Amino acid sequence: HAVITGAVFTSHVPAIGAAMDHHKTEEPYWKPVFDGYAYSRQWQRENLPDVIFLVYNDHASTFDLSLIPTFVLGTGAAYATADEGYGPRPVPGIEGDPDLAAHIAHSLIRDDFDLTLVNEMTVDHGLTVPLSLMFGDVERWPCKVIPFHVNVVQYPVPSGARCFELGRALRRAVESYDRPLNVQVWGTGGMSHQLQGPRAGLINREWDNAFLDRLIDDPAGLARLPHLDYVEQAGSEGIELVMWLIARGAMSDVDGGGTVETKHRFYHVPASNTAVGHLILENHPRAETPGTEE
Ligand code: DHB
Ligand code: FE
Repeated sequence: HAVITGAVFTSHVPAIGAAMDHHKTEEPYWKPVFDGYAYSRQWQRENLPDVIFLVYNDHASTFDLSLIPTFVLGTGAAYATADEGYGPRPVPGIEGDPDLAAHIAHSLIRDDFDLTLVNEMTVDHGLTVPLSLMFGDVERWPCKVIPFHVNVVQYPVPSGARCFELGRALRRAVESYDRPLNVQVWGTGGMSHQLQGPRAGLINREWDNAFLDRLIDDPAGLARLPHLDYVEQAGSEGIELVMWLIARGAMSDVDGGGTVETKHRFYHVPASNTAVGHLILENHPRAETPGTEE
């Protein structure tokens, strides 16, 4: 059957994509950001999955006030890069996995997560910037990508608790797929940032680092944090962090009896208006960790 081999968490700041597209990664402002992903690119080459289940949010590129789905599962064969105002980024579109996505749709919807299934859409910086950070400049992405969009732009948005439960159901869905695939789950967006209003530019290092600590060690407790805490402490766009709880909920230590191992942790301020946070967790389901009885 399919297994979840790890989780990657990263911010998706659009200026990071622009820095790559315009060859500015060696400039003093950007170098520290990309240095923080050097290990990640090597790890990703050595641990290339068959499929990435990529949890992200669209920013009014495909879903705007005309259509506001809370959870979107991309069941299509391919998705092109969105034009966000300057033409589409010069990066490849993604190839989906319609068969695995259909299986996940059945499993999650039967588990009472009322998803919206989308076969045609474009994908914006929320999805392409994490891929660029982890894979660098490539002709095509080296594995399939199932896009999973979460509405964190137009209130009401789903709670951290709901996202965490969805992640738990996602693990059951992947592990009940009868093909031997390696799947990574990515949680993207965040960390603290506010792009608008009197508090524009807000960054909260202390809160962000406590979030990273608790994401690793106390995800169930972290999932109970109310919306208002994110917005007050991490700014209006800090709410993007609820998406990280989907990926964390899919790790097997949450209720599958396995363990997780922290392979990499990085935090840097600033990139554009945002605090960049990044984590790589390897997943060790019980069957793969001989010597651990529980
Ligand atoms: C920025 C960050 C975001 O998450 C986003 O979606 C757009 C802009 C920024 O820091 O500029
Ligand atoms: Fe964003």
